[in-house]
Amino acid sequence: MSDPGASDRHPARREIGVYRTLFHMPDDLAYFNTASMAPALHSVHEAGRLALDRVASPWEISSDDWFDDVEVLREGFAALVGADDDAIAFVPSCSYGLAVAARNLSARAGDRVLVLAEEFPSNFYTWRRFCIHTGAEIVEVHRDAELGWTASILAAIDRRTRVVAVPRVHWTNGALIDLHQVSAAARAVGAALVVDASQSLGAFPHDLRTIRPDFLVAVGYKWLLGPLGFSYLYVDEAHRDGEPLEENWINRAGSEQFAGLVRYTDTYRAGSRRFDFGERTAFAQVAMAVAAVEQLGRWGIEGVASALREVTDEICDRAGQLGLSVPAPNERGPHMLGLEIPKERGLALEEQLEKRGVMASVRGDSLRLAPHLHVTHRDIDRLIDGIAAAL
Ligand SMILES: Cc1ncc(COP(=O)(O)O)c(C=O)c1O
Repeated sequence: MSDPGASDRHPARREIGVYRTLFHMPDDLAYFNTASMAPALHSVHEAGRLALDRVASPWEISSDDWFDDVEVLREGFAALVGADDDAIAFVPSCSYGLAVAARNLSARAGDRVLVLAEEFPSNFYTWRRFCIHTGAEIVEVHRDAELGWTASILAAIDRRTRVVAVPRVHWTNGALIDLHQVSAAARAVGAALVVDASQSLGAFPHDLRTIRPDFLVAVGYKWLLGPLGFSYLYVDEAHRDGEPLEENWINRAGSEQFAGLVRYTDTYRAGSRRFDFGERTAFAQVAMAVAAVEQLGRWGIEGVASALREVTDEICDRAGQLGLSVPAPNERGPHMLGLEIPKERGLALEEQLEKRGVMASVRGDSLRLAPHLHVTHRDIDRLIDGIAAAL
């Protein structure tokens, strides 16, 4: 990762803050809320603005334009996550992608679907509906404090398990799950693995070729730095002849021949394109997503991860010095973490952070800290000062 103008020579603090100017971000805001919504890169914002200008003149949009940029995005995104472009479909939300997965998996009475305790609602509700339809049972896996998340999930997988629907990190606090181990255990009992990577894809590498999820979904507006309303679905080869949620015109073979659209066909476009949502051409969102993927590609996902690791390591060191218990480095992702703050200090904490212009979210029992590369040393100082003042 290049280092434009970093002056701090401490090796562990080298990258922090040097990319701030690439983001649309007021000087006096210390924003630790990427897990809610990423701050906009100027390049992404500008791409959206230009695309909206273009859409204002539809006579300048050719039939090829309905297909070309979408395929540029598909290729760019596939390269970013180490998949082939036939594996990628575009969906409007994570819940839509999960619904595609549920539509294409089966279960029956006596079977089980595993989700995490306190899972994000879109993931929980999808599988609860799936269980109502199929007669399977939804089982919430709780984290055993001795075992940790991965071993708790492994202990819950058995011959009754049909679907394991888990994230790469828990959305409330960034707690890490080893998907290689979970994938191997699911495969061993013939269960499908469905991953909600909304809180991780883009922030650190996911080796999809070795994890081999059946389906993986990620929203675009968090760690992938793109717009709201445009998400990504990865589909394993075994499911690429599956049933889409909707039957739209653009996913059919030959749909680029506008004059022939009513010569109906049962053939879809290649690979996972059959799962693309109608209107996935959404010019502004696609242009923004392309700009985001390009920036992530320039940084490299490894580079993003190591730069974010520097920020979260620094937060952990300093929160530890305040006497707070912090997650071990091997139990959290590089990009976000949860600090357990005594409940009775919750209100004081909110007040102190607000006073200093610090934005972070309380999720469950923890203060969720989710920086991106806009975060500076000054932001971290203000965060730590706010926490210290509230304790
Ligand atoms: C883990 C996780 N999944 C999904 C979403 C968004 O879900 P949807 O796209 O269904 O609105 C969020 C949003 O915060 C999330 O944290």
